[in-house]
Order: sequence, then structure tokens, then C-alpha cells
Amino acid sequence: MQAKYRKDYKAPDFTVTDIHLDFQLDPQKTVVTATSQYQRLNPESTKLHLNGHSFQFSSIKLNGQDFNHYQQDKESLVLDLSSVNAEEFSLEIVTNLKPSENTSLQGLYQSGDGLCTQCEAEGFRQITYMLDRPDVLARYTTKITADKLKYPYLLSNGNRIASGELENNKHWVEWNDPFPKPSYLFALVAGDFDLLSDKFITKSGREVNLELYVDKGNLDRADWAMQSLKTSMKWDEERFGLEYDLDIYMIVAVDFFNMGAMENKGLNIFNSKYVLANSQTATDDDYLGIESVIAHEYFHNWTGNRVTCRDWFQLSLKEGLTVFRDQEFSSDVGSRGVNRINNVKFLRTSQFAEDAGPMSHPIRPEKVIEMNNFYTVTVYEKGAEVIRMLHTLLGEEKFQAGMKVYINENDGKAATCDDFVNAMEKASGIDLTQFRRWYSQSGTPKLTITDKYDEKNHIYKLTVSQMTPVTADQMEKVNLHIPLKIALYDDKGITQTLLRDGEQISDVLHITQTEETFEFHNIYTKPIPALLCDFSAPVKLDYEYSTSQLIKLLQFAKNDFVRWDVTQMLFTEELRRNLINYQQNVVLDFSPEILNALSKVLENYQQDPALTALILMLPKETEFAESFKTIDPDGISFVRHFMVQTIADNLKSLLLQIYNGINLDEYRVTQEDIALRSLRNVCLSYLAYTNLGNTLVNKHYSYSNNMTDTLAALNCATKAMLPCRDSLLKDFEEKWQHDGLVMDKWFAIQATRPDEDVLVQVNHLMDHSSFNFNNPNRVRSLIGSFASHNLKAFHNIDGSGYRFLTDILLKLNEKNPQVASRLIEPLIHFSRFSAQRQTLMKRALERISAVENLSKDLFEKIEKALQ
Ligand code: TRP
Ligand code: ZN
Repeated sequence: MQAKYRKDYKAPDFTVTDIHLDFQLDPQKTVVTATSQYQRLNPESTKLHLNGHSFQFSSIKLNGQDFNHYQQDKESLVLDLSSVNAEEFSLEIVTNLKPSENTSLQGLYQSGDGLCTQCEAEGFRQITYMLDRPDVLARYTTKITADKLKYPYLLSNGNRIASGELENNKHWVEWNDPFPKPSYLFALVAGDFDLLSDKFITKSGREVNLELYVDKGNLDRADWAMQSLKTSMKWDEERFGLEYDLDIYMIVAVDFFNMGAMENKGLNIFNSKYVLANSQTATDDDYLGIESVIAHEYFHNWTGNRVTCRDWFQLSLKEGLTVFRDQEFSSDVGSRGVNRINNVKFLRTSQFAEDAGPMSHPIRPEKVIEMNNFYTVTVYEKGAEVIRMLHTLLGEEKFQAGMKVYINENDGKAATCDDFVNAMEKASGIDLTQFRRWYSQSGTPKLTITDKYDEKNHIYKLTVSQMTPVTADQMEKVNLHIPLKIALYDDKGITQTLLRDGEQISDVLHITQTEETFEFHNIYTKPIPALLCDFSAPVKLDYEYSTSQLIKLLQFAKNDFVRWDVTQMLFTEELRRNLINYQQNVVLDFSPEILNALSKVLENYQQDPALTALILMLPKETEFAESFKTIDPDGISFVRHFMVQTIADNLKSLLLQIYNGINLDEYRVTQEDIALRSLRNVCLSYLAYTNLGNTLVNKHYSYSNNMTDTLAALNCATKAMLPCRDSLLKDFEEKWQHDGLVMDKWFAIQATRPDEDVLVQVNHLMDHSSFNFNNPNRVRSLIGSFASHNLKAFHNIDGSGYRFLTDILLKLNEKNPQVASRLIEPLIHFSRFSAQRQTLMKRALERISAVENLSKDLFEKIEKALQ
């Protein structure tokens, strides 16, 4: 299969200035007539290469005349224009589609009773032949005709300009989007919905109609999304000075969707998981997830749509920047510390693993076979970290000045990552030459830090060396420009001023060399360094902290992230030590100092309940696994369980006291209440392992008036295998079986049960009436949870977990390759498992690679993994 390389980018020979689309919609047979105005940009060029999907098309007309000089193959239509002299011409192409049979959920497809599109990255070519690349920007008008009863709402990008009634119960609506856009931002939706309408007045006084479309009967779950949209619009005006540009902004929630949501101009389409919420169906995390995805898609209107990407290798230009923006939004409207910790947790587990695995790539990839495979944690989350480092290096003011330059210079254009960095450099005057390497180098850099205290001269020295290990895609590594934010504390927790030769120096050290030493003067006792405060760079840190230093930082560090991070180090060290005990059949033990430190944190929980909860949360098995060269699934699972049990036994009375002391009667989605609920539920997650467990969890479940607490109880009961477990699971199932989104939570719990026979259960559940193999949310919650979050069962040494996933992937390869390609991830990360497991995993991959019709999506990953 053909790979594309970033270095091969060539500007297009032709472009489309205007396109008129006519859709005669029907799930069995949709007829699309595309009439496009083409312009020849390269006078030499006589061949027009259009992207498409071997359509059965009835005709091609060039300037209104039948045109026959073309060749068609599986992925393209090549028109021979040697006899056409005009520099501008129109093309009319009619294609026929069958949306009801399109299970890939790309292009035009059926979701429930409605019809909708998904065009990013290269889905528009499944609708008609087109120059389907992001540097071809056209103005779109779209006329949709369909049955009036089945599809009362007919939506597309931009403004509604005309509509009418037809015979046979049909009607039509015509839309016009005044902003030129690439084909990937095109969208169409047809269906019957409930509509929540609202208004937003922009800072310049324009009125914008906000329309949120949800399935019939779901209006009572739409308010939070609407609220989040308005908060996002306001925030973007205040923090970035960016205002919405059309008179209407629509969001449609659909049940069948491959990812989270899509930023189509003026018409966002969302996975219903990221729209629908009320206290009975959604957890606090769901609420926060909705808020951030609504914000993310809204922010794309400027970073993605008004300024788009030149080619798909530049994807991080819009995604990294927009993730950074949505993270900042969540931090400004919620808790900055909590957001930072959760983002880092995700980055460290998923992105560090990606960089260490066969799919390693820089945030701006060099080589792609299937673009859908590059909507990755690297492009998104590491991409956002790179923007965050720029923000750290420049400061808010210069960063915003850079944003202004970037937007002004690139509005209405297709830009590159270099354009962005150039704008930042221009506005700030800061040299970003070395910093640019973050865009081209993959891998997680490691900072090794040693220190020395010169008692006589009161000088403290930090020696920092950097090294990026070789990755699957790149043998040679260079030094990066790494901002390292630090703080120094004395033994009592007093922050030491950072001085050199009497001058105060920045707490952000610029690491640029292989090794360098930084001096701090007037330090009168040997300090404890807090390193990588706020996680100022996406790197691994190697500094030999003693347990007592870590405990001190946990007690007095001013930085939320640092306090959480040192606890992670303490837990990881305990697990590592005990894993050796376990493997050598020696009794396990838990450091009493750490237990003591944890109880002090708990005693002071009122200072910051949210942070207390995060600190107390033991890393998941998969999070622990990330820090090992060779992963021992059974050992990690055993030792982690021992740690939970030990904390529960030792801190029982304190946990119970806090648990009982937190009373929240009415359910409110406020920062304060979310924090208290999460702390209370963390307490419960330990108490579940004590003799009080069954009673407490049972009560927690029956007194709960919201999904957060209900689910917490269900989780505790299942993980701790409490006697009440089966009856609670049954109760939940009976109550919610009609609701797929809620049942996803139940499926995920089932898939991660600690029981030996969990795989048998998972297999049974695939026949459950709430399960639907064609729905990506269901597949991810049942099968994805099993493969990615049930470390022990998936990696069962008998190979049953691998075989199970392989069977699923073979089915999904044809139905929905995009989902298959996400699901295969745990299988391609075999290099850190024992030889025996590796053999089994490779055999599974070989079995998949042998099938006919292997999708590009799976081919690319398997080929890299087996290389
Ligand atoms: N651009 C979308 C976002 O970041 C994500 C996206 C890319 C997507 N490809 C997709 C969503 C395919 C659904 C299906 O928000
Ligand atoms: Zn995005």
C-alpha cells in the first residue's frame, strides 16, 4: 500500500472556487449532483486528478457538455484536459450512494433514523469526486431534498437561504456557507429531532442563533451542552479576542460516530456521549467531558476552520493548538491544578506509550499510509504540550500577540506548523530555532538531573542532561529546547529565592545542551528541589529522590502538580519494590512513612478536596505498567491489590470519618461539589475493601440521587467483589437497558471485572439486547475496556484475550476500519511483555495480516508492529 511523505507536498495544479451540491436523499439510494467551478493554477497541467471511491456515476459534464476523456480506478478519476483551453471550467458529476449500508461511518451514512456525514480526514471523496485535500478551499452551496415526514430537518453548513415543498411529501432546503473551506469541513444532517434554541450576543453586538439538535425525547439532557457552548463563546472572546463569525451555530448529537465530535463549519456533529447529560444519566466526568469537547469544537472555528491546514501532515497545527485552548478553557472555568494533573496522567500513559511503540511519530508526522491513523495522542496531546511550552517560554502576553499575528497572516488560508512558530517568533522576538525541533523529533526525552550543595559558598548546583531514546521511526536524535520549571525548598518548606550573583533569575530553566549546570546562590541549607513543576515539558525525569524528600514535597510543595506527582513516585516505588518481593515469594510490605503521609493529606482534606482525591487515587494497573521495561500483568495486579488493601486497613477510621463527614443533598455540577463527591468516592473505593464494604457500598448505591455516586458504588462493588455486586448490577441493568449511552458504563464495568471468567462474561454480553456491534460507543465500552483496561485478563497467558480481540478485529476490519484501528492498539504494544506473550501477540497480528481486504488502517499498524 502506498505511503505519502510530508516532503513530497506539492501545491495543487487545480483548485475549486465554488461548489454546488444537490442531494436527493434516501437511505437506499441517494443521488448527489456536484457542480464545481474549477480553476487551473498550473498552466502546464493537463491532467486533473480527483479523489473518489470507484463510484458508479451516470455522467460527467464539462461546461455543460458530456465529457468522456477520463480514466477511473479504485481511488481516483483522472480527467484528460488536453483539449480544454479554458483556465476556468465547470464540472458536473452525478454519483449514487447507499447510506444505509455504509457501516464505516465516514462519508454519508445512516445513524439511527437520520442521515449524516463525516468528512474529516478524507471522507468527502466517499460522497463525490473532488480535490479532497485541505489546501483546496471552496464556497459551498448545498441543496437537500428528502421525505418531509422522515426528515423534517435538513441541515448543512452556513446560512439557510431558501426552502420549499414538493410533491410526494418531499421538501427541500438550500444552504450557503460564505466562508471558503476545505472539503473535510463539509457537513449534512437530515432527520427528526428535538431542538433546543438559544442566543448569544457577541462582544461586537451581533446576535447568533444557537441550535442544538438531539434525538426525540432527549431535550431534558441538552441544557448542559448549550450552557457549555455559551461559556466557550464568551471565553474565546475574553481570553483570545476571537468572536464567532456566522449568524447561526448548530450542533447535532448522533448515536453512531467514530470519534468524539467534528467541527464542520457552523454545523458541528457530535457523538451523543459528548452532548447528552442530566444528573440521572451522566457522571461528573461526563459533564466535564462534554464541556471540554463542546469548547474544543467551538474553538476550531478559528483554529482549524478560518485558519486551516495546508496538508494533513500539519494536523497538529489545528489539533495541538485547539487542545491547548480547550485545556486552558477548562482550567479557567474549573480547577487549574486538577485539569493539569488529569491531562498529564493521560499524556504519560497514552502518549509516552505511543512514542515507545511501533507507531511512534513526531507531532508533525513524516509518513502516512492511512490518515485516520494519525488522529493520535501524539498529534493532539503532545501537540498541545508543545504549544504549552511556547506559552511558558513567551508568557501570556507575547503568546497572545503571536496568536494575533498568526490569525491575521493566515485567515482564510491553509497554513503550516512553521507558519505558527514563525508568527510566535515574530511577535515575541524570541529565537525559536531549536524549539522547532519538537515538530520533527519523535520520542520522549529523558532529563537526568543531579545536584550538589556547596555548603561553604552557599551555592546549589543542578546538572541537567537530556537524551531522547531512539524510536521506531527515527534513529537519530538531537537536543531539544526544553523549559524546566523548578522550585527550591528548605527543610521546613520555605521557598528559596532563585538568585545568581545577587540577581533574581527565572524559575524556568532553558535546557538546550546535552549537559549543563545551573547555579543558585545564597542558598543557606541544602534545598529539596521540585523539578518539572506544572509538568513544564513532556519529558521523563530521572532524579534520585529519597523517600523522605518526596514526603516533604508532598507536605509542603506549593505546586498542585508537584504534590500529586511526588505521590505517584512514592506509589510507583512501593509497587516496584513489592513486585520483586512478589516474584521472589517474599511477604509484601508497605512503607509506614508513606501511610503516615497519606493520612496527613487526608486530615487536611478541607484545604483542597479535589487535590486530596487525586493524590489518594492509586494509579490504575495500566498506569503502573507504563513505568516497567517488562510488564508482569499478574504481578502488578496482585501488588496493586495488596496496596489498596493495606491503605484501606490502615486508614480505615480516617477514611470513614471523611466519608461520613461529606454530605451533599442536592446534586449540583459545581467545582466544589464535584471535588467533594470525588473525595467521598475515593474514600469509598478503599472502604469497600474493609469489613464495612458491603454495607457502605449497598447504601451508597440505594441513597444515590445521581449517576456519579451510583456508578461509584457499582464500581466499588465489582472491583472489591462484594456480595451486593450481582444485585446492584442487575438493578442497574433493569433500570437502564433501554439506554445505550448509560449501558456503556455498565458494559465497561463488566469488562474490567476481576473475575477469572471475565472473558466468558464479555462474550455473553455481546448478545445483550443493549449491545450493538455497529455502534462504536458500545464496542469501545465492552471490547475496548476489556483489551485496554483489564490488564490481567487481556494478557492471560493462555492467549484467550488476544484470540478474542483478533476475532473482533477481523469482523471490524470490513465494517469499520477506523474503529478497528483504535481497538488494535493493545495488541501492537507487545515489546514490553514476556517472550511467551510476545509470541502469542505476534501470532494474532499475523492472523489479521493474512486476510484479504485488509484495510489500510490495520495494515499500517500491523506492518509497523511486525517489522
Ligand atoms: N477534528 C475532530 C476533532 O478534533 C476529530 C476527527 C477527526 C473526527 N477525524 C474524525 C471525528 C473522524 C469523527 C470522525 O474534534
Ligand atoms: Zn479537534
